[in-house]
Amino acid sequence: MTVADDLIRKAESREARFGIVGLGYVGLPLAVELAKAGYRVLGYDISQRVVDGLNSGHSHIKDVHDDDFAAAVRSGHFEATTDPGRLGEADAISICVPTPLSKFKDPDVSYIVAATDAVKKSLRKGQAIILESTTYPGTTREIMLPALESTGLSVGNDFFLAFSPERVDPGNPTYGTRNTPKVVGGITPDCVRVATALYAPAIDTLVPVSTTEAAELVKLLENTFRSVNIGLVNEMAIVCDKLGVDVWEVIEAAATKPFGFMKFLPGPGLGGHCIPIDPHYLAWKMRGLNYKTRFIDLAGELNTEMPLFWVRKVTAALNSLSKAMRGSRVLVLGVAYKRDINDLRESPALDIIRLLEDEGALVEYHDPYVPQFSENGHSYASVPLTPESVAAADCVVVVTDHSCIDYGMIKRAARVVVDTRHVLPRDA
Ligand SMILES: NC(=O)c1ccc[n+]([C@@H]2O[C@H](COP(=O)([O-])OP(=O)(O)OC[C@H]3O[C@@H](n4cnc5c(N)ncnc54)[C@H](O)[C@@H]3O)[C@@H](O)[C@H]2O)c1
Repeated sequence: MTVADDLIRKAESREARFGIVGLGYVGLPLAVELAKAGYRVLGYDISQRVVDGLNSGHSHIKDVHDDDFAAAVRSGHFEATTDPGRLGEADAISICVPTPLSKFKDPDVSYIVAATDAVKKSLRKGQAIILESTTYPGTTREIMLPALESTGLSVGNDFFLAFSPERVDPGNPTYGTRNTPKVVGGITPDCVRVATALYAPAIDTLVPVSTTEAAELVKLLENTFRSVNIGLVNEMAIVCDKLGVDVWEVIEAAATKPFGFMKFLPGPGLGGHCIPIDPHYLAWKMRGLNYKTRFIDLAGELNTEMPLFWVRKVTAALNSLSKAMRGSRVLVLGVAYKRDINDLRESPALDIIRLLEDEGALVEYHDPYVPQFSENGHSYASVPLTPESVAAADCVVVVTDHSCIDYGMIKRAARVVVDTRHVLPRDA
């Protein structure tokens, strides 16, 4: 039996042990799904706090419910560690570490390099390594492969290396890790065969592609597609504003076309760990090849300008009450980057708050999922949301459209509202 066939047999029997490197928004849901499929999962994270919390049965990720998770810990299907030396115990290792941008908006692959180094130290014959972190095309082959082969082991024969982009959509009640099709690209044909076999018990649909570069690019295309289309509707929001037309009415009517149109909605700007960041990975890679990715740059510009557009709307709303921004009380409703989650990363609410404060507004916020946060040396705490607190504000700005908020009450109690998400009830 070849090394590949042996690993596939271990996947089918669930004898294979899975390692997950990085237990965040991506790694933890994947670990839980693999544990539910019958694998024993070893999670490795550099954060002692994360590991201690998980070993005591508490999930720090909102989409992973404590009950589901505690059952996996109790049954011995999940265990977390900060000891990289234990990665040698795993037959398959999925790497789910962050891929942020540097100060100059260049890719920061230092987490991938560090995770590869940890894996390399205990790499052995019969292991499959799968990178999940979003990154530029070429990362798996150019950064990971030479590091792993420097051990003397050979890819496709002794160990297997693949890229499989994580597509998790935090807060999505319909699509989770299991029922979102998963793309897999390998360095060799056996690398794809092994990686798909390993994921098959936990993921309903696997989509093999011919190379790791193709798989890396799939993820960047998906997120660039979103960024460009959001940029387009955000520009349409500005156009409609200047024409005195309701952009949401236009979009809803356009969306009745049963073909050739896909609905995207304008809003306060982009947030999260993916859409504002990932396209820059591709733009950077292409700059190195002397090609300028114009759509990516333009969408980035348009989306980044949206917080200022909405702050201008607050100025206009206050003007309608004969009030100046300076000294006015502004209540920001929602600071998470999107609905029904507690993630603040890259949230446009942070830009809106900063711009409002720069103009002298006294800003408070309410977010049921974010009780407090610190930004630029300031600490903020969520204020209670009552008809009184809403009425006490000169202007309310709806930034995140959390579904548990009573928008009817906001509309009734507020003096004036700027609704970046179109969630306030409309007049008949
Ligand atoms: N969050 C999303 O919605 C989402 C969706 C799809 C893809 N992604 C991609 O998945 C990757 C991970 O994102 P995330 O949101 O899960 O990040 P995260 O910050 O939530 O989690 C990353 C975890 O990795 C740990 N870590 C950092 N360096 C490590 C190392 N060297 N060894 C072990 N652990 C380490 C951190 O302590 C943290 O717990 C990124 O590339 C991101 O672009 C994220």
